[in-house]
Formats: sequence, structure tokens, C-alpha cells
Amino acid sequence: MNQNIESHLIENRVFKPAKSFAKRARISSPAEYEELYKASIRNPEKFWAGEAKELLWHKRWKTVLDWKPPFAKWFVGGTLNASENCLDRHLDSPRKNKAAIIWEGEPGDQRVLTYHQLHREVCRFSNVLKRNGLKKGDRVIVYMPLIPEAVIAMLACARIGAVHSVVFGGFSAEAIRDRVNDCGATMIITADGGYRRGAIIPLKQNVDHALQGGNAKSVGRVIVFRRAHNEIHIEEGRDVWWHREMEYVDANCPPEEFDSEHPLFILYTSGSTGKPKGILHTTGGYLTGVSATSKYIFDLRDDDIYWCTADVGWITGHSYLVYGPLANGATTVMYEGAPNWPEPDRFWKIIAQFGVTILYTAPTAIRAFIKWGNEYPARHDLSTLRLLGTVGEPINPEAWMWYHKVIGGGRCPIVDTWWQTETGAIMISPLPGATPCKPGTATRPFFGIDAVVVDEAGHECDVDEGGKLVIRKPWPSMLRTIYGDKERFKKQYWSDFKSQGWYTTGDGARRDKDGNFWIVGRIDDVLNVAGHRLGTSEIESALVSHEAVAEAAVVGRPDEIKGQAVVAFVTLKEGQEGSPTLRKALCSQISHAIGPIARPEEKDIRFAEALPKTRSGKIMRRLLKEIASGTEVRGDTTTLEDFSILTRLRHMDE
Ligand code: WT7
Repeated sequence: MNQNIESHLIENRVFKPAKSFAKRARISSPAEYEELYKASIRNPEKFWAGEAKELLWHKRWKTVLDWKPPFAKWFVGGTLNASENCLDRHLDSPRKNKAAIIWEGEPGDQRVLTYHQLHREVCRFSNVLKRNGLKKGDRVIVYMPLIPEAVIAMLACARIGAVHSVVFGGFSAEAIRDRVNDCGATMIITADGGYRRGAIIPLKQNVDHALQGGNAKSVGRVIVFRRAHNEIHIEEGRDVWWHREMEYVDANCPPEEFDSEHPLFILYTSGSTGKPKGILHTTGGYLTGVSATSKYIFDLRDDDIYWCTADVGWITGHSYLVYGPLANGATTVMYEGAPNWPEPDRFWKIIAQFGVTILYTAPTAIRAFIKWGNEYPARHDLSTLRLLGTVGEPINPEAWMWYHKVIGGGRCPIVDTWWQTETGAIMISPLPGATPCKPGTATRPFFGIDAVVVDEAGHECDVDEGGKLVIRKPWPSMLRTIYGDKERFKKQYWSDFKSQGWYTTGDGARRDKDGNFWIVGRIDDVLNVAGHRLGTSEIESALVSHEAVAEAAVVGRPDEIKGQAVVAFVTLKEGQEGSPTLRKALCSQISHAIGPIARPEEKDIRFAEALPKTRSGKIMRRLLKEIASGTEVRGDTTTLEDFSILTRLRHMDE
């Protein structure tokens, strides 16, 4: 088995949910979870149909699941509208005047939108989309700061059946262009700029670059929201202002009904090979998955102030900032900027100010908070918090304990939620009133999720034995395909255990004697840098596109705050020489091709005379990983093409 997924942690501290929490929770004991879980695995369709019934359907489905591995259709024959489920459904109740979104901009500006107001804005913007020629099934890129209009744009697309593809504001012009070309988007919704650490991210300018010179030809319209008031270029005939367009429309836009399998969105994510892939999610199943998990795992109640700190550019933002909480009629908090702007207490200030009760964030953020010091949370009253969550990467027990004690005051359960862009919704997580938690484990699968750890042959691993994490049964919020590439979809996720029809997650894991899942991390060539997923091959192709570079191999090294950091081994063409200037240029090259989030530290660009290869010419990545991590080189290296390279690589840059 891959040595990455050996078990390396033994953690025995157990934290049971407080009695007061359990008493009012939906699932309030391990026994109750166990019983319901078993029943849900015996008959997942029954469980999921029960959850789907909570949504508003125009036509009820005829068949719960049509499963022709690896292609699934959920709630076949049913019709619904996702935006109606997130908005209109709450208007005939006291929720009408409840805050749907509480927003704070980085400069400190604030807005609150009630369900009634959000509904009106979404209806009006839906009419703007129609006015600009957008139709059911058309693809739209949303490239926005984290402002309410990003949510309005998403829900308006959903309302008229257009397929949104949100591109995170930290991605580059080239990344936008690739995504437009891959999905054939006809429209981009953006803003002039967004704030980050006091600076303005030139979003519209990036869009201009993406479209310049007749690139990304499918785009005929760009709608621009005025956010940062930075100077921008307006291309006559192509670009229109959001606020102007809104003047022409009314707020009447009845929700159309769409097939349960109508595409809701495409979200691009990195894989182990090639360009990012467009993960396609559809309407009925996705909404069922995110709505049910939000309810059980975040224990959402009508008086909660729920804050998921993710950006809508990631799946976490889609599922647990927008669709999951709004389908549950919750109040969702959004904050535009950086956690340490203007000071490292910004998150705690926001929590105290709005009375946040549920906080969902990433281990990388928690590790940064620890480093910044306890005085920052200590400045603010965090006593409203009752539940904490983490997502994105394994949480180290020290960070878990700090989160528990310093932020949660020792009283809040922590839900460590494991899932992926592809799974759409949380797959493995404690239920806050039921599951005893151990720092570092995502604990047990959600209802209906048949997760197991298996060896290469598909046999379930023994207790504490590392293996591949797979899911054996389909679930409603699963990806339906990779947009435009069925073959890649089949190969990427369904080829390891093809005859069984199991989904391969790409993660390694082990289970302890109590059945808890310990996620060890990716076993493919995907990096997780500060919770952001990056493909090594994408970074490599960015590097070799630089004129000085002959060959590049990218691996991850452990990083105290970011979890992993990018390390690039680079060989140069004849006549080129490694220099600090070239290092800088290569970092910029990566930033340019992918986005600032992929930019390595300059010291992590390592010039080499050659890369270690096997006789058959494969780059020995395991070896490079060990060199990058500074660990001793283990195992058989006699197959190296040139053994002396190894010694040179190890001593480089010292
Ligand atoms: C990868 C998916 C799903 C939201 C954010 C990331 C890692 C995610 C956990 C967790 C350990 C985790 C996995 C997974 N991951 N959550 N709680 N514990 N690892 O979505 O960008 O699709 O990345 O993130 O390696 O495969 P994503």
C-alpha cells in the first residue's frame, strides 16, 4: 500500500456531546445514529426520498434512483426550482422578514438582506439575465468578490435554469479563459473590483484580459457590478452595468420548474492530470444532499446565526454558504475579506458583533489564528457560539484542541466534515448531538453514505490499516459527470473498482476500532495548499511554458500553516542560469497561469541539473517529495538513471 496512507496518529481523547446539546438535537445518541445509519444503508433510497420530501417539488418523482454505474439519476420525473426552494418557500412564514444574509465588506460596510429582500433582488436580476438573452441551459461564469450579489447571481441563474460556474476571485485571467472555453459560457457576471487586505483585486480587468484578442469567443455579454469604484474599461456592445440593467426590470419572475436532473452548476476543480475539470451537479439530488446535511450536521435552527467562512468560489461556499443554509431558511453570514485585516481579530469581532452561533472554517485558518496569538479571540465575546465545524483538510489534534478550548470555550461540539467538490455534500462527519469526537477524525459516515476503506483488491482493510477511501453506493448530491468529458469521468472516479461500481475518492484513510475514519490525505498528485486544491500537473505546465524551463516536477512539502506548500524542481534549457530573478519570474508565471493561490514561495523553486527518473523515464516523485520534506530518502533508489543527481538535489540551495 502507498506509504502515504500508513496510519500515523493514535489519539485517545474522546469528547462526548454535552447533555444540554444532545437533548435538543435531532439525533441525540450514538445508538440512535447507529440504528438510523444501518437502516439508511440497507435502503438508501428510502432515506433520501424522505429527505427529498422536505423540499418543494412541482411534480413528485416517479423513481427515486436510476443507477447505471457510473451514471445516476435521482428523483426521476420530479420537477423543482432551486431558487424557489431557497427563497419563495420561506415567504409564507415568519421567515419572510428574517435575515437571509448578513454581510460585511472588508472596509467595514455592512448589509442585511431579509428573505423578502433577497427574493426581490433575485427576481429582478433573473429578469436582467433574461433581458440579456440568457436561456435555460446556457452557461454563465460568475467572477465576483464575496458580496451578496454573488449569491444573487447564482440564485438568479438557478431561477431561470442557466448553469452557473463560479470562478474564485483569486484565479487569473488565464484560468477564466480556460473555463469559458471548456464550458462555452455566453456570459460573465463580475464586479469592477473586490477588496483584499486593503488592496483592490482588479476583477473586471482580469475578465478583459481573459476575453482580449478574440479569446473565449462564446462570451457576448459581461455584467459588471460596481463594488470598488476602481476605474475600469467598458467595452461598448459587450459590457453593461448591473445597476443600470436593474432599472429596466420589475421584481416579478415566477420560478419555472426544471427536471430534477437539470444541471444546476459546474464547478472547476483540479485533478491529478491535465487542466481543471468541470464538476457537474444537478438540481434535485444536490439540493436534497446539501439541505439534509446542513440540517443534521449543523443542527440549524431558526434562531441561529450561521457563518461559513468559505468563498462562493469553492464548493464549500456553494453548499454551505448558499444552497444548504438558504434551503433551510437559515441566516447566513458573509465576510468579504481577509481574516487578519485590519487586525488578526477580524473573525472574532464579526462573531461578537452579529452573535454568530455556528462557525464553519478551515484548519489552515485555525493554525494561522493559533500563530497570531490568543489575545485576539480574548478581546471579544464569543459566548454565542454553540457549534463549530472544520473542512478542507485533516485537522491536527493540537489545532482541534485550540479550536475547542479557545474559540468554543470547551462547550461547543466540533464537526470535522470530510467531503469533496465531487461529493457535493458532506459525506463523513460527527452529528453534533450524537457522535463522540476525537480530535483529528471526521468520525462516521452520514446517513445513506456507504464509505469504506479498502485495499487495492477491494477488500475492506483491518482496523488501523491504511487503504483507499471509496463510496460503494450512489448518493443524491454526487457529481453526474465531468462537463463535456464522460470518459475522463469514468476513468478518474470509477475505474479502480469498475465491476463493483464504487466511487474512488482519491484520499487515503484508515478506520479505528470504533469505526471512526481518519483521513490521511490525497494519494494522487493533487496538493492541498491552505485548503485549496491544486494539481501538480497544472503547475508543471505553467512552469514549462516559461522560455527558460526545460522540465519541471512539482510536489508538496508539509507546511505548518498551509498544510502543504508547493515545491517545484526545475531544470533549465541550455544556456539558462538559475537566479533569484528567474525564481521570481517563475513564481509570477504560476500566478499568471493559475492564480495567486498557487504561487509558491521563492525558496521553493529549486533549480536542478536533472530530475531523478526511473529507467523507463518516469519522474521519481516519491523521492522528490522526500527531498522537499527534508526527510531521509528511503527505499530502493538503484533504479535511478543517474544516482549522483540525488545527492545534488538534496544539497541544492543550501
Ligand atoms: C479534498 C477535497 C469539500 C470542501 C473543501 C475541499 C480534503 C476535505 C477534509 C477533512 C481531511 C479533507 C480531502 C478531499 N478534505 N475535507 N475534513 N479531513 N481531508 O473540497 O477542493 O474538492 O477537496 O479535501 O483530501 O479529497 P475540494
